[in-house]
Amino acid sequence: MNSFIRPRRLRRTEAIRQMVQETKIQPEDFIYPLFVHNKDYKEEISAMPGIYRWDISGLIKEVFHAWELGIRCIVLFPKVDESLKTEDGAECFNEAGIIPTVIRKIKQEIPEMAIMTDVALDPYSCDGHDGLVDQEGNILNDETIEILTKQALTQARAGADFIGPSDMMDGRVGAIRQTLDKNGFKEVGIISYTAKYSSAYYGPFRTALDSAPRLNPNKKIPTNKSSYQMDPANAKEAFIECALDQYEGADILMVKPGLSYLDVIYRLNNFSNKPIAAYNVSGEYSMIKAASLKGWIDEKDVVLETLLSFKRAGAKLILTYHACDAANWLKKT
Ligand code: PBG
Repeated sequence: MNSFIRPRRLRRTEAIRQMVQETKIQPEDFIYPLFVHNKDYKEEISAMPGIYRWDISGLIKEVFHAWELGIRCIVLFPKVDESLKTEDGAECFNEAGIIPTVIRKIKQEIPEMAIMTDVALDPYSCDGHDGLVDQEGNILNDETIEILTKQALTQARAGADFIGPSDMMDGRVGAIRQTLDKNGFKEVGIISYTAKYSSAYYGPFRTALDSAPRLNPNKKIPTNKSSYQMDPANAKEAFIECALDQYEGADILMVKPGLSYLDVIYRLNNFSNKPIAAYNVSGEYSMIKAASLKGWIDEKDVVLETLLSFKRAGAKLILTYHACDAANWLKKT
């Protein structure tokens, strides 16, 4: 054979490689998750080096820093005082609670930054579940939705741009959409945790918020979230969640976790016309961080390759704890 087909021609120089590059990541693709607590100091999360529980003024500075790096959206998670946790998680709709307070403050100081919230009971519940738990250990779907709609409304009133239901109760997206519309918040969007799997990769996040399911001598508490979060073995089922969330009014559909579920991202992006988001979750962050701290991998290259893979699979948006580092590296490359 005297003539090969030579794909390597398009890999020959840096200029040519840049010309034919199919996927690019940019800071605007990132949504930056931030933890906040009611203390006057920041505290590093031991299982997530480089990630903190922020005090409010430290958090505001971090939001400015993220904005300057080109990040356009953050998502907020509260570490709630133990004394405020109850079985019904009612603190989640307290207008004077930590999340509404922080949202108002950010909107005063840096109104351009888009704010996404998390809707679920786990940080506020002494049982550590996303929904209400009855004596027999059942997670009560419809009763939970009543509380979640109040939580969403409180966040919208404080100034949230996107409500992010992460609880996986059936029908919650529609109920939240209706509540927002009825109360004059037609412009507030919903980024739904559409295909959220019952995953061991959430471990570090639960230590960050001390929000894992807890044993209780007076009540049966399921030790995992598998009666509402999806089975990691199922991909077809994600289409059902996708169709429902879209029909119920979600604006952006999320797959979570990201890395072990790239196939789900790919499928949902082909199935839906809505933008897809991937959540590069806490356990994924911690694994890269731990190996980098050991000197076993190159952090920058591994992070950028990982984030690229979400986008190549079909995600437009990536929730990632690496957001600021990655934005910084992208500026310099
Ligand atoms: C709470 C919630 C979780 C995460 C986001 N929202 C944990 C869970 O469902 O147990 C996980 C995020 C991460 O691991 O980075 N509903």
